[in-house]
Amino acid sequence: MTDIVPTVEGLAFGGDYNPEQWPREVWDEDIALMREAGVNLVSVNIFSWGRINPGPGRWHFDELDAIMDTLAEAGIKADLATSTASPPPWFSQLHPDTLPVDPEGHRLNYGARAEYCPHAPAFQDAVVEMASKLAERYAGHPALAMWHIGNEYYRSCYCDLAAEAFRAWLAERHGDLDALNDAWGTTFWSQTFTDWEQVLPPRISAETPNPGHLLDFKRFSSDALLKLFRSEAEAVERHSPGVPITTNLMVTGDFSGLDYHRWGEHLNAADRLIATDHYLIPEGPIEPEAQVAFGADASRGLARGGPWLLMEQAANSSAWRGGYFAKKPGEQLRHSLSYVAHGSEGAMYFQWRASRYGTERWHSAMLPHGGPETKTFREVKTLGGWLKRLAEVKGSVVQSKAAILLDFESVWAAANPGQPSGHMASYPELRRWHAALWRRGVTCDLANPAWDLSRYAAVFAPSLYLLEDDANLRRYVEGGGTLVVGPYSGIVDRNDHVHPGLPGALRDLLGVRVEEFAPLHEGETIALDDGTEGHAWSEIAKAEDAEVAARFIGYPSTGALFHRGLGDGEVWYLSTRLTDLDPFLDRLNLTPTVPGLPAGVETVRRAHEDGRTYLFALNHTDRPVTIPTEGTDLLTGATWTPKTHLHGNSAAVVRER
Ligand code: GLA
Repeated sequence: MTDIVPTVEGLAFGGDYNPEQWPREVWDEDIALMREAGVNLVSVNIFSWGRINPGPGRWHFDELDAIMDTLAEAGIKADLATSTASPPPWFSQLHPDTLPVDPEGHRLNYGARAEYCPHAPAFQDAVVEMASKLAERYAGHPALAMWHIGNEYYRSCYCDLAAEAFRAWLAERHGDLDALNDAWGTTFWSQTFTDWEQVLPPRISAETPNPGHLLDFKRFSSDALLKLFRSEAEAVERHSPGVPITTNLMVTGDFSGLDYHRWGEHLNAADRLIATDHYLIPEGPIEPEAQVAFGADASRGLARGGPWLLMEQAANSSAWRGGYFAKKPGEQLRHSLSYVAHGSEGAMYFQWRASRYGTERWHSAMLPHGGPETKTFREVKTLGGWLKRLAEVKGSVVQSKAAILLDFESVWAAANPGQPSGHMASYPELRRWHAALWRRGVTCDLANPAWDLSRYAAVFAPSLYLLEDDANLRRYVEGGGTLVVGPYSGIVDRNDHVHPGLPGALRDLLGVRVEEFAPLHEGETIALDDGTEGHAWSEIAKAEDAEVAARFIGYPSTGALFHRGLGDGEVWYLSTRLTDLDPFLDRLNLTPTVPGLPAGVETVRRAHEDGRTYLFALNHTDRPVTIPTEGTDLLTGATWTPKTHLHGNSAAVVRER
């Protein structure tokens, strides 16, 4: 496996560092404390456009020079950002057409961040100029470890420039206006276009918008940001070749604004690095540890199992998540180790030192307002020590034999208005299945349905509404895989047109014919004759070439759970959303990383090509447990035997014998 951060020794550890917010004497303290904590990488210059370039044609690099030199002297590496995520007020005032317009036609003001229209030529030119100037200046700087393009891309815009760019994108995708009319089904409600000028972004209109229009606009907006990212990355590469380039995605499980699998094609290349930010959802059905695993598994999916980096997490609360929630003692340590267990080549945070001012003054940091004598900073130091001792894990690969299918286009399409049920959102369902598998100790990738799936023993498609055809899934099953398909999958094609004959693209593969949907109301459940229960959805479904493994009670001619052997593999179909997934999962032959562990004890294995393996054991419970393996716990240096106790709320990383 390639060394993703060649100039950072061992695993990466640090966070966003914003010394420009502080007087110089604080920098000295920062550096001393970073060294004490073992920080080896910081993300700098994320939001400094206005300081580097305070007016048209004015460039001031003294401060950034000083930051970079200070880091170099301290032996700390920089993940150097291009600072293009937040244009300063002078820029927005000079180029008002770079301010984004919302779907209602309001042009947003500056005053916060990310106030840009990705389609505005003035903005596009400015970011390339900025990236070029920075790369020219800092290529070869001893502190430079990697380039960080922009910050958390997500902005979409509905202005006239967006309209123009959208038309060009549509012309490339569909060819001519007739093809566009077909793709969007514009004969419905008499919306046929006769001239390209009539085509607009999906601005607010009098009635429910056209789903094809919405879907293409999502694709277009994701592609436009990718183009913007690439323009900067290519500018950086011209002046600073061979240095890794990254950007912080939001592969979190509750952000689906971009098609990260398309982004992954560009970020998963030589000298590129998949990185993500992950902020946990404080409330809800899924425990924080399972959320950590989801974000990590989805990021590893983007990296196709290879290296990736957790670029940001919160040491404690994220104020923007709504209110203060504190991490329990030891929690951030286990979370950070869990990201590494699931393949991250380090653990980074937002941010190093808590800001005294600004919107995020109450966002937690590695060094909180309370200073170094705090629970948070003590744990940061512990983590720094641990990561140093885990250096040899770098470059090893997570062992996973199961995958959950995630397709961003399908997630978008399933969220389009006009669905038969308001309770069939995709992403939460993927997270629910992932959490159920995680609780059983099964390490799972999030994979795109079009990828080669042959290395997985089991593949789950709990919610795959949009699917063009079954070819790849059929190949997987016939080749010996176990495929599990949830309801309302395979229903529409890439244009969100309903496939004739339900369940559409999957009907032949499943051997099931769905006569009609019978969605359930909020809170309503339906009983199955195997003792389980479904919610949200049911349907009148008949086996065509499958066995019925369970039926809905009271509907004897309707199957609820179908099974079919096909080629060397098998396929299951569930025509409802099972409330408790465990009884169903018991039917499958899934192997956890370490069998027999109690709930809340997580184990993940990473392996080097030469056969060295590392078992990460994370005890998220209060009770001690034994983990049946032998070797050396890298965190303590002590010998590990099957009798060694892993205490409650603690962790071990065993280099196995
Ligand atoms: C995002 C941003 C950071 C910061 C954090 C706070 O990840 O990239 O600049 O705002 O959120 O959680």
